[in-house]
Amino acid sequence: MKDSLFIRAAFSQPTERPPVWMMRQAGRFMKEYWDIKNKYSFLEMCKTPEIAADVTMLPVDLLGIDAAILFSDILVTAEAMGGELSFTQGVGPKFANPVRNESDIDALQTDVAYKLQYVADAIQVIQQRLNGAIPLIGFAGAPFTVLSYLIEGGSSKDFKLTKLFLNNQPELAHKLLKKIADVTVTYLNMQIKAGVNALQLFDSWALALSWDDYSEFSHQYNVGIIAQLDRKDIPVISFCKGSSVFAPLMAEAKPDVISVDWNADLKQIKNNLPKGIAVQGNLDPFILYADKAVIKKKILHLFERMRGEEGFIFNLGHGIMPDIPFDNVKYAIDVVKEFRY
Ligand code: CP3
Repeated sequence: MKDSLFIRAAFSQPTERPPVWMMRQAGRFMKEYWDIKNKYSFLEMCKTPEIAADVTMLPVDLLGIDAAILFSDILVTAEAMGGELSFTQGVGPKFANPVRNESDIDALQTDVAYKLQYVADAIQVIQQRLNGAIPLIGFAGAPFTVLSYLIEGGSSKDFKLTKLFLNNQPELAHKLLKKIADVTVTYLNMQIKAGVNALQLFDSWALALSWDDYSEFSHQYNVGIIAQLDRKDIPVISFCKGSSVFAPLMAEAKPDVISVDWNADLKQIKNNLPKGIAVQGNLDPFILYADKAVIKKKILHLFERMRGEEGFIFNLGHGIMPDIPFDNVKYAIDVVKEFRY
């Protein structure tokens, strides 16, 4: 696997073209996803290794991407800890028992690896199916982002309750973040043992935080998690919306790759990072709604900008939206695969 385009780029080695995968590549923009989704709930899909493997393989078979990502969710750790999680169409994730006080935090369990065994089982089934063709990326949510869902009880636009909690009860916030971080380390090391070839830490909502709050409530936990991974030859990707602001801090956690949102000039970010840290990104996903000629032009512009840079994985700045036309996604991937430096 170390010779694959994706792993070489992740370790900042030369590649003949940028490897490509897309966040949320195993999802609702594919008719074939709905064929499965209409029969099961989202959590059933995550928890049944054969179904999780089927969905993981959809973009491998239909899009020809250069890396697969495990079909799961960042909130399965919080669910294993005791969060009563459900996903409703059009509503998103909901926790029926949001964290409101110290006893809610004390009630969350940390010895939960056994409850996440279905993820290890799914990884093994997926690796049998992939049969060495391309690497498999495992992942987890970063503690701050997972905390935000536990506090808000679901998705949020402004993270009002989360920020109130961090501001008024910082000791409790740290108590909760520490618990989530401990579970996350065990969970990611379990994924390595089960056979993933790379890991991505999703701190999707870090952009909600100021620099100081990001340092205190997010960054230091991500540093601790990355330091405790049994990485060997497993590259670690660090993602947040806000990476174009927080990249210098993110680099201190020593990931192999920083995944960059679409606000920044990727070359400038890369040139300001320590040597040996690759970048992933950073096409605005909304470009995939546009005409094919525009899609091609924007991708080739990014590639011209990144020419000569070692350590570049092509991806979107955030996930594919469910209503992006499948044809456009496929076209974008074909454009990348035809390109040569
Ligand atoms: O990328 C992939 O294709 C692999 C699978 C994957 C999912 N979620 C499947 C999913 C991954 C890597 C995630 C991560 C995830 N989950 C993140 C971080 C990535 C990001 O987008 O920032 C976050 C914040 C979540 C939490 C989450 N899960 C939300 C907010 C929602 C609902 C809103 C939405 O985008 O649909 C989910 C549900 C979810 N996770 C779906 C999928 C395919 C949709 C479920 C459905 O079919 O209804």
